[in-house]
Amino acid sequence: MEKEAPKRVNLGKSIIVPSVQELAKESITNIPSRYEIENGDQPDRPINPSLPLSIPVIDLQRLLHGDFKNHEELDKLHLACKEWGFFQVVNHEVSASFLETFKIEVTNFLKLPMEEKKKLWQEEDNQEGFGQLFVVSEDQKLEWCDMFFLITLPPELRKPGLYNKLPQNLRVTLESYIAAIKDLAQTLLNQMAKALGIDEGEMTELFNEMHQTMRMNYYPPCPEPNKAIGLRPHSDATTLAILHQLNDTVGLEIKKDGNWVPVMPLENAFVVNIGDALEILSNGVYRSIEHKATVNRMKERISVGTFNSPNIDSEIGPAKSIIGPLNPPLFRTQPLTQYYMEFFASKLNGKSHLEVIRLQ
Ligand code: OGA
Ligand code: NI
Repeated sequence: MEKEAPKRVNLGKSIIVPSVQELAKESITNIPSRYEIENGDQPDRPINPSLPLSIPVIDLQRLLHGDFKNHEELDKLHLACKEWGFFQVVNHEVSASFLETFKIEVTNFLKLPMEEKKKLWQEEDNQEGFGQLFVVSEDQKLEWCDMFFLITLPPELRKPGLYNKLPQNLRVTLESYIAAIKDLAQTLLNQMAKALGIDEGEMTELFNEMHQTMRMNYYPPCPEPNKAIGLRPHSDATTLAILHQLNDTVGLEIKKDGNWVPVMPLENAFVVNIGDALEILSNGVYRSIEHKATVNRMKERISVGTFNSPNIDSEIGPAKSIIGPLNPPLFRTQPLTQYYMEFFASKLNGKSHLEVIRLQ
């Protein structure tokens, strides 16, 4: 019997808000109160000088082709996932020249004239397109960021009419990027399964029709950077998030032992982080980490996050192959669509979503 194509699901909506990029063009000196975050959203503690100031860096070639007896890079990956929840990947298979093309196409796209962007703006009942996410009330504080959100995989779930309105050059480049990130995510997930003792078959089956979304972020320069936030503290609901920083403006910060640690952009690297769904899948061994994006007075910042999750019709819960009397499940198992709909239905707030799923 032929397998039924997954039905398109609407994962959520967000209240329509104006473009921050247009606002930033008006050479204002004070930001409107709608962008003034509630007393810092999180108290900022000074960075502890005894902390190592950079997240671990994983060499993909060493991970895949290194000395199998020593497992050195795999151990490093395992530790990075347990202790940091964040790492950068270098020496991967995505070429520097391709990433340069990607950067040009995405930057041009995010700077299209407003007239063009309007055609690609979010709609009342669906969050795909330009705008912001997680805006659930009119008086909610807004982020200093314009983003473009879309479902990328599987292709059948793409929003009809959104893809074919994208500039042709971008569409071609995007297609290669989507496939490259999918490959990278599957490779990393297989290595993580090995380190966690998850049955490889279980992992492969979960991700054979990977669900993937993408968020392109444009953070304009901000006249009052200390009063605004680019992206408020949150953890990613997904399994594996893969972020590419398109320019060298520093902005991403992760919470490490109560301190905010900046992630320095490394040229051509990918920043990978454990999402809530992987914390669940690993039954709490790997940790999703809170992170945020700050903004800069003088410089714009551009990043593209790709969020890789299991097949949309699967259930998300602790991996069956590691659960037993000695390792009882710490989280509830639920359909992935329900998990996502609940996530998108409320304001971003640290790791709170995970707590809803935790078993007492
Ligand atoms: C995200 C995210 C950080 C950044 O899109 O979920 O955390 O640096 N982005 O843009
Ligand atoms: Ni994030």
